[in-house]
Amino acid sequence: MSRTYYLTTPIYYVNDVPHIGHAYTTLAADVLARYKRLKGFEVFFLTGTDEHGQKVEKAANAAGETPLELADRVVKRFQALWEKLDISYMDFIRTTQERHKKGVAHLFTKVLEKGDIYLGEYEDWYCTPCETFWTETQLIDFKCPDCNRPTEKLKEESYFFRMSKYQAALLAHIEAHPDFIQPKSKRNEILSFVKEGLRDLSVSRTSFRWGIPVPGDDRHIIYVWFDALTNYITALGYPDEGGDFGKFWPVDVHLIGKDILRFHSVYWPTFLMAAGLPLPKKVFAHGWWTVEGQKMSKSLQNVVEPNMLIDKYGVDAVRYFLLREVPFGLDGDFSHAALVHRINSDLANDLGNLLNRSTAMINKYFEGLVQEPGETTEIDRAYRARTEEMVRQVDAHMDELAFSKALQAIWEVVSAGNKYIDETAPWALAKDSAQKTRLATVMYHMLESQRIVYLLLSSFMPKTAAKGLSYLGFEGIPSEEGLAWGGLQAGTRVMKAEPLFPRVEAEGE
Ligand code: MSP
Repeated sequence: MSRTYYLTTPIYYVNDVPHIGHAYTTLAADVLARYKRLKGFEVFFLTGTDEHGQKVEKAANAAGETPLELADRVVKRFQALWEKLDISYMDFIRTTQERHKKGVAHLFTKVLEKGDIYLGEYEDWYCTPCETFWTETQLIDFKCPDCNRPTEKLKEESYFFRMSKYQAALLAHIEAHPDFIQPKSKRNEILSFVKEGLRDLSVSRTSFRWGIPVPGDDRHIIYVWFDALTNYITALGYPDEGGDFGKFWPVDVHLIGKDILRFHSVYWPTFLMAAGLPLPKKVFAHGWWTVEGQKMSKSLQNVVEPNMLIDKYGVDAVRYFLLREVPFGLDGDFSHAALVHRINSDLANDLGNLLNRSTAMINKYFEGLVQEPGETTEIDRAYRARTEEMVRQVDAHMDELAFSKALQAIWEVVSAGNKYIDETAPWALAKDSAQKTRLATVMYHMLESQRIVYLLLSSFMPKTAAKGLSYLGFEGIPSEEGLAWGGLQAGTRVMKAEPLFPRVEAEGE
């Protein structure tokens, strides 16, 4: 039976155009999806758009469009960006699709019939941009504790989800599954939140119309988070519990930003418990990007637009930078200087030079043909051991979604490669015909280590990896077997590489 792996990104609101924060979650998911495929998993990788709710309704009114016209327009921007960023998603769900609306109505009815959704009255402080009700004690100067914008007191008839009923069960689940919420610091935050007590949750609104009506009572629109979270199962065909749902649920990991952790690790699991469905195996919350030290915001006009970055620096440089610069799970700062530095030092210098030097040498000394290696020396064996160790390290780091550590482990071997060349000095060996076999052995180690490096890089930088592998004469599809030392065959033709990453002049230089 094939091993399956299901992973998701949040579904993005269509009232905003994509920026680097959105690109970040999606990119991390793509790297993980590609890595799991390399390891032989059957992967289902889902992304999509969150198209209902008051925010979208308001944005559409402001733009003089219907909400669906707005969504149709903005969804194209997301899809075009994902193509440009080489995102290998399998399905793109839009919450306005019939398949989704049907599944949400079904879930709502199921929980209602069970008695875990009831009709009541709601009065509290509401933050419209966040679509969240707050108690007075949670407010800070009567402003939303999340976004610091003004809140208003709202009273309305509402359906409630009996979230309080699931407090103990959720707590027990979090405690019994240390990996359920990651990273650990975030898990602790959620644990204390749940311990403080869960209130029943208002799951319908009467204050706007743009959404999925409550089945049998269309004065009410289903709360946008109840609607949105359910995408993770409607995309699998829920309420049909066979098919993809049977195959891929429970999800292996929901990748999200830290701001939406509570929805994913408290609301969503309790909805699922009420519906008698298994809980996600893992919810991982990454940190937020600031830009040149400041919060990214429209009013500061400092929103980093991924399309522009890709046009300027190339897709793989952007992919590399975002995952290398900041440990996944922590906040980070985006700056052009840091990006340019990474391109010049890690990509052009370390990675690109190694490939250029070694492919040039094999062409100069052996007409581009890989030779059978001869007897090895300590230095060859150490280099090989280092390469093999990297494969294990990357696997362990990817398991923990520690993308930057995985890249670091790969770069240690790239540096070891440059050092290996300096120490073995092939140009000196080439001068002595008695050293021909020694030279062949050195060339073999240099190229074989890089073949494995590029196979691992195929998850992070697919285009660069494909180029690197083709210079190295690799044919076929990257696979787990290919990660073993010795895959490079004598007789393989290696081509002299063009620079993979031209150096970039820093702005102002
Ligand atoms: N629609 C909801 C998610 C519903 S999932 C069932 C939503 N959408 S969003 O478009 O506002 O945000 C999507 C993601 O972008 C979130 O994970 C959020 O953390 C991420 N980011 C938004 N700004 C960000 C940064 N500045 N930095 C990193 N990620 C950020 O929330």
